[in-house]
Amino acid sequence: MTLQLEVANLQKRFGGLVAVNDVNFSLQAGEIVGLLGPNGSGKTTVLNMISGALQADGGRVVFRGTELTRQKPHRIAQHGVARTFQLVRPLPTLTVAENVLVSFAFGRYRHWGREAEKLVEEKLEFVGLEGRGRERVGNLTYIDQKRMELARALASEPSLLLLDEWLAGLNPSELKTGIELVQHLQGAGITILLVEHIMEAVRALCTRCIVMNAGQIIASGPSAEVLQQKEVILAYLGDDHA
Ligand SMILES: Nc1ncnc2c1ncn2[C@@H]1O[C@H](COP(=O)(O)OP(=O)(O)O)[C@@H](O)[C@H]1O
Ligand SMILES: [Mg+2]
Repeated sequence: MTLQLEVANLQKRFGGLVAVNDVNFSLQAGEIVGLLGPNGSGKTTVLNMISGALQADGGRVVFRGTELTRQKPHRIAQHGVARTFQLVRPLPTLTVAENVLVSFAFGRYRHWGREAEKLVEEKLEFVGLEGRGRERVGNLTYIDQKRMELARALASEPSLLLLDEWLAGLNPSELKTGIELVQHLQGAGITILLVEHIMEAVRALCTRCIVMNAGQIIASGPSAEVLQQKEVILAYLGDDHA
């Protein structure tokens, strides 16, 4: 096993609220690990600190031996960490290909011109949008927007991908497709930290889970074991959205 990501004593405060309180975990290369917990438990804030969108108040993020703590998002992307956002934010007036193309400017390996176009086509093919680069984003179905979002994240050739409720809102057949896409990413050697509420997806994808509640990790271990722990079930039952 190769250590990919190490998060140690991570802390984030918003005024008087401790949103992330002494969070510790690590990811091995090639794993898909679920980051679970009721709404407001601090999951997105953890992803924000790993990706550099938010500065940590304390603790460290080490990725493949390099300290990423408090580095700028574009630097972190260049080290091979990519993410999707909980709320999809495509640039609606651009085409599918243009949306992916803009992501290349911030990637680990920067590409321009013909070479970039070729890579865009390659990523679109990978996510199942082969030959659809010229379509307007506004006309895409929801699953196809999700595919495009994934292609954008892949533009930076990530070795770690942070997925923030990427499967939310899909209908049952789209969910099946979405799960297969995540498996496809793992097959390509990408390590994945998956924030997810859909238990069917967690069971299908995650060998391990980390569960947060009120900013702290309350359970972690093999998915099947963690998901039946009393503390975990209680944390979810206490939340309207779970
Ligand atoms: N930018 C922010 N400013 C103030 N409070 C925030 C901010 N982001 C998140 N929070 C608060 O931090 C807590 C954790 O939020 P979040 O990480 O989004 O939880 P989750 O993703 O698990 O639902 C919540 O109470 C939320 O309201
Ligand atoms: Mg969230």
